[in-house]
Amino acid sequence: YPGAVALPLEVRGGEAPGRCMRQLHVVYQTVELPETHQMLRQTCRDFAEKELAPIAAQLDKEHRFPAEQVKKMGSLGLLAMDVPEEYKGAGLDYLAYSIAMEEISRGCASTGAVMSVNNSLYLGPLLKFGSEEQKHKWIAPFTAGDKVGCFALSEPGNGSDAGAASTVAWLDGDEWVLNGTKAWITNAWEASATVVFATTDKSKKHKGISAFLVPMPTPGLSLGKKEDKLGIRASSTANLIFEDCRIPKANLLGEQGMGFKIAMQTLDSGRIGIASQALGIAQAALDCAVDYSEKRMAFGAPITKLQAIQFKLADMALALESARLLTWRAAMLKDNGKPYTKEAAIAKLAASEAATAISHQAIQILGGMGYVTEMPAERHYRDARITEIYEGTSEIQRLVIAGQLLKAYQG
Ligand code: CAA
Repeated sequence: YPGAVALPLEVRGGEAPGRCMRQLHVVYQTVELPETHQMLRQTCRDFAEKELAPIAAQLDKEHRFPAEQVKKMGSLGLLAMDVPEEYKGAGLDYLAYSIAMEEISRGCASTGAVMSVNNSLYLGPLLKFGSEEQKHKWIAPFTAGDKVGCFALSEPGNGSDAGAASTVAWLDGDEWVLNGTKAWITNAWEASATVVFATTDKSKKHKGISAFLVPMPTPGLSLGKKEDKLGIRASSTANLIFEDCRIPKANLLGEQGMGFKIAMQTLDSGRIGIASQALGIAQAALDCAVDYSEKRMAFGAPITKLQAIQFKLADMALALESARLLTWRAAMLKDNGKPYTKEAAIAKLAASEAATAISHQAIQILGGMGYVTEMPAERHYRDARITEIYEGTSEIQRLVIAGQLLKAYQG
């Protein structure tokens, strides 16, 4: 595929790592994908199986950012997938991004989180709302995997109510001055820049919010402690604290007061990425459950012979494969320039709830072995949980879906 296949994977053809990894071509049949997307999927699958899955447990245990792997992903084009080649991206589409995100997250969900934030939340708004000058300055250095960006919308006092931003920005001569605290920022500790949302006119509520580009580190911006999390522990999450942080006037992204729309449109795309991450976690949990139940003997036969196990596996496959189709539909709508707010929310809701349910059942199938860190099932269960929270909780997705649905009925 353009921009990335040119760099043949030296990691290709390695040994299948560890327990619970399976050759997926025999595991799921799917709608026919274009050849470029099939090649991309195989490249990402090889990379994830060779480079990510074998170290995912260790990264999780040590809370270690996968810097070396992220760099390699940059050289494969995975850090800027739908960015045109003129800005040093891979020039692919969102379906490609979804497929790649699933495969990477199947190997390591934390690495999927890093990839998702850089692609959708940092580069996404720049690509859509940045001036030509901003695109050249703020996109290209974030495509190769040696720099990542982050996205600062939530605050300690408001996550779901994104329009209630209390971080403020005012113009002082040729500089914006930012004050306030942003919370739950994925990639915060490693990021070299952030898109940050602050209110420039409180009286206008969400219409007073603006988006800014802030280099990191920069005077007046400090990092909070690295959060100790349930899952995706190899990616960092922390507060960003702005105290009279001065940035050039030219760092306003889009127009003043446009920030809330920028955030909402960015999250529409981002939710396709999180849905894809959830698919990868769910697939990994299903792989693990099948692998274990083929080997585990009970009542004189492998437990796959038991209907109790077969019914669970069937329900897991049903949830996973239907969520995958919903996710691809949302990606294709975006690629075709069609509205996709509702479909992205449906995809994220279906895939994240499927990941939670499937990883829960995987543990149930493994029994005691599912509960210990020797097997990856417990990590998949922990990693799945965040997909129902970040980039809009399941409850927010339901609000978005219902809102769009009612709007359509009302014409
Ligand atoms: N696209 C474009 N515009 C949109 C939009 C969309 N998807 N959704 C809403 N808007 C517009 C509306 O049209 C409306 O415009 P006007 O003012 O011109 O009429 C305006 O935005 C306000 O819309 P609402 O009245 O619907 O807004 P609201 O205040 O009721 O909030 C919400 C809606 C859906 C609840 C929204 O606040 C939301 O999505 N909240 C969740 C935020 C979220 O996902 N946070 C996660 C942060 S990122 C993260 O997780 C961190 C990380 O590092 C991964």
